[in-house]
Amino acid sequence: MNEIIEKIRAEFLQDSKAIKSLKDLEPFRVKFLGRKGLISSAFDRMGELPKEERPLFGKALNELKKELEAQYQELLNRFKRAEEKGHRLDLTLPGRKPFAGGRHPLLKVADEIKDIFRGLGFSIEDGPEIENDFYNFEALNIPKTHPARDMQDTLYITDDILLRTHTSPVQIRVMKRQKPPIQMIAPGRVYRRDTPDASHSPFFHQVEGLVVDEGITFADLKGVIQAFAHRMFGKDVKVRFRPSFFPFTEPSAEYDFSCVFCGGKGCRVCKNTGWMEISGAGMVHPNVFKAAGVDPEKYTGYAFGMGIDRIAMIKYAIDDIRIFFENDVRFLNQF
Ligand code: DAH
Repeated sequence: MNEIIEKIRAEFLQDSKAIKSLKDLEPFRVKFLGRKGLISSAFDRMGELPKEERPLFGKALNELKKELEAQYQELLNRFKRAEEKGHRLDLTLPGRKPFAGGRHPLLKVADEIKDIFRGLGFSIEDGPEIENDFYNFEALNIPKTHPARDMQDTLYITDDILLRTHTSPVQIRVMKRQKPPIQMIAPGRVYRRDTPDASHSPFFHQVEGLVVDEGITFADLKGVIQAFAHRMFGKDVKVRFRPSFFPFTEPSAEYDFSCVFCGGKGCRVCKNTGWMEISGAGMVHPNVFKAAGVDPEKYTGYAFGMGIDRIAMIKYAIDDIRIFFENDVRFLNQF
């Protein structure tokens, strides 16, 4: 008699351990407590016992039934609670970062460039992106007939109004409104009629530099570019100047930095030259001084250009300029 009771209890305990979720619980209940379950069947078989044992067995079976029902109820409550909790909050899941905007990599690099030049005593100047022919070309010693105008594919709005092709017109604007000494940079966006590819974009960003005073020489220009290179890319970067031509400077040069990827040994990025072309520079042409109302007999000066996109591409090892303007958050989130 007791054997039957103990067997059911043991089996109940055993099966209860295998229950993993609410849905395992119903077959479990049916097996033990259902209408044709083990307890019911035991009641049905009571008739097989000798008469005098039946009341005791009935009592014991009733107690077992109550006991198992209580345990079943407890299991049910426990799994219900677990399931609800699971729906509400799973503390083991990785957290979701709130989406926050940030500064565009080009703005970050522009800020860095500005900080470096501010530290060297330069002021930050600004000029319009929609320019007159006079500031963009004429005053920079590029007359209408000058073949140098072919160097830049210009986006014209009218015959006389255009989207500036470089930041050099800011030189003229500053010299017209301010007497030397002048020591300024002008960062900003410029436009050219270029078909986009990995190294061309119809708009990009430059920094113009201009220093005008009595006794300014090419050595000052070299010193400043060198100081910039060291602060931007580290003390090991070398600078070289190559003779070149720009209508607004004489003499003119292009300047390169030693490749920051291979240290000048030659690699894929610098096309095995060991050098990376940065931009142009030179001593301000007397015609430019005249157009801007500065006395070329009294003052000398140097000017330089610089590509912000180019510097950013070097700094972040990016090989396609278009990625800056696609606004792909997977790219932008990395900065
Ligand atoms: N304006 C030139 C360009 O867009 C860059 C440049 C070259 C600026 C020489 C200068 C300079 O001030 O002296 O490519």
